[in-house]
Amino acid sequence: MTNSKSYSTTKLMKWPVTSRIFHWGSALLLLVTWLMIVLHENADNNQFIILHKAFGVSLFCWMVARIINRFLTPTPPAVPMPKWQTALAHLTHLALYLLLLAMPIVGVLMSVYGGRAVSIFGLFEIPVFVTPDRSLARFFNDAHVDIIWPLIIVFTLVHIGAALYHQLIKKDKLISRMK
Ligand code: HEM
Ligand code: HEM
Repeated sequence: MTNSKSYSTTKLMKWPVTSRIFHWGSALLLLVTWLMIVLHENADNNQFIILHKAFGVSLFCWMVARIINRFLTPTPPAVPMPKWQTALAHLTHLALYLLLLAMPIVGVLMSVYGGRAVSIFGLFEIPVFVTPDRSLARFFNDAHVDIIWPLIIVFTLVHIGAALYHQLIKKDKLISRMK
């Protein structure tokens, strides 16, 4: 275990390069997936919701690869901080992993129970692999839009808020570990 003095005087421990690529790649994919919704709301055809679905499924695959990478690569030692902050950071990270897996799964279930296959950039399709069911489609739609999405917003804001707190107030160079 390091204490705050030895931490600040030892060489900064960075995340492995693969973890850094996966981290910023998932942030970018989340942004693009959300941007497709914004564009969809201002469009008069379905092209952006089709892209939303394809980027959402891509984010799912990215997260699966990211989690495999997390188990295969070393993690830098935790930055010394009060126990409750460490616990909140772990909770937030775990929640983000689970929510970013659940969101696309629920999105695909919403589509297929609604009787719609999901096109992945026109390359291939996830077929309707269930018997369409309107009430289940509505259930997954509500979960996607009214439950999981607000949770993603909350945990992402807590996460970015914490990163800014480290950067601007604690000035402990935490963000450089992920740069
Ligand atoms: C992590 C990945 C995803 C994120 C972050 C995400 C996010 C969102 C957001 C923010 C909305 C709009 C919510 C609102 O109206 O307030 C939405 C709607 C929607 N999403 Fe996703 N989504 C993801 C993956 C998917 C996937 C994989 C599919 C389907 C294959 C999908 C299908 C849809 C559909 C059909 C809507 C429109 C629902 C409606 O207007 O009632 N999403 N999504
Ligand atoms: C401006 C935006 C962001 C900044 C500055 C940021 C910064 C960071 C930093 C510095 C860490 C490492 C913390 C440590 O070393 O203990 C981290 C970890 C993490 N970030 Fe972000 N992040 C941002 C956006 C996001 C977004 C949008 C997501 C969700 C897709 C996300 C998900 C995660 C996760 C899951 C971890 C934990 C990594 C692990 O323990 O495996 N981050 N972030």
